Amino acid sequence: MEITAVAHPNIALVKYWGKADVRRNLPAVGSISVTLDRLTTTTTVRFDADLDRDELVLDGQPATPERTARVSRCLDLFRHRAPDLPAAMVESTNSFPTAAGLASSASGFAALVTAVNGALKSPLGVGELAEIARRCSGSSPRSLFGGFVELAPEDGTTTVRPILDRRDWPLEVVIAVTSRAAKKIGSTDGMELSRTTSPFYDAWVERSPGDLATARTAIEARDFAALGAVAEASCLAMHAVAMAARPGLVYWNGTTVECLHRVRELRGDGLPVFFTIDAGPQIKAICEPGSSDPVASALADIPGVAEIVRCGLGDGARIVAP
Ligand code: PMV
Repeated sequence: MEITAVAHPNIALVKYWGKADVRRNLPAVGSISVTLDRLTTTTTVRFDADLDRDELVLDGQPATPERTARVSRCLDLFRHRAPDLPAAMVESTNSFPTAAGLASSASGFAALVTAVNGALKSPLGVGELAEIARRCSGSSPRSLFGGFVELAPEDGTTTVRPILDRRDWPLEVVIAVTSRAAKKIGSTDGMELSRTTSPFYDAWVERSPGDLATARTAIEARDFAALGAVAEASCLAMHAVAMAARPGLVYWNGTTVECLHRVRELRGDGLPVFFTIDAGPQIKAICEPGSSDPVASALADIPGVAEIVRCGLGDGARIVAP
C-alpha cells in the first residue's frame, strides 16, 4: 500500500512560542497562520512487512538518524491506534530549503500524517489527526487546512480550525531568503530556553489571547491595517522574548533587519504590506491582493537577499495518489 500526500508550509501571523508541556508538545499559546501555495512537501508512505524498521529518504538522500527517529515516533502514534501497521518507507521532498525558517516541519508532518491516515483501514477524524500532527510538530496541524487557520489550546489538547478561505482574501506573500543555512537552535530548544530564562516570557503568554482575538476580528473583517499591526507586534514580541533569554537567541542577520525597515518604509509610502519573521533569518512580507510586485522588487534590491520567493495562499494537506 503506497499513498502520496502534499502539504504546504504555513506562516504564523500571531506566533506560537513556548510549550505548556514539552512531553506532549502542548503549546502554551494559540496561534493564527496563513497556509501558502507554491512551496510544497510531497510525501510518499509505503507500508511494507518486509522492512525491519521505518526508513526516511529526505530530498533524495537517506535522512539522519535523528530525523528518521522523529518520523518513526510520529508513525508510532498511529500504531497506538492501529497496532498491525508494519514498518514504513517514507520518501519526502521539499520544493524549498529544509529547516531554514520556511516551516518545513509543518508541511512535512502535515503531509506525513495525511498520507499515513489515507493508508489506514479506518482513517482518523481531523481532530485526532491534528492531535497526532501537533505532537510531532507544533505548527503542523495548521497546514492541514488552507487559507487562514487558528490553533487554540483547549483543556490539555488543542483544536485547529479554518477562519477564512484563501479565496475570500487572497493575500500575497513575498519571502526574502537571507540565508540558506539550517538554523543552529531549533524551535523546541529555543522555546524551552525562553520559557525557563526569559524575563518577558510570562508577559508574552498573558498577552497572547488578546492578540489572537484582535487578529481573528481583523481577518473576519478583512482589515489589513489591523491585521498588520497585531502581526508585527506579535512577531517582534516573540523575538524580544527569545533575545532576552540567557544566552539570548538572535535568529536574525543584518539583512533581516534591513528588510524589516524597508517593509516599514514601503508602508510609509502607502503600500499595504507588513512583515513577519519565524525562528530563522528569512523575512516574510504579507501584501494585500495585487500589491506584491513593488514589494518583491524592493526586497530583491537589498544586498544580502539571496532569493525572493513569491506565494499566494494555498490549500490544506491532501492525498494526491493513488
Ligand atoms: O512547529 P515548531 O515547533 O517548529 O514551532 C514553530 C514556531 C514559529 O514558527 C516560530 C512560530 C509559529 O507559530 O509558527
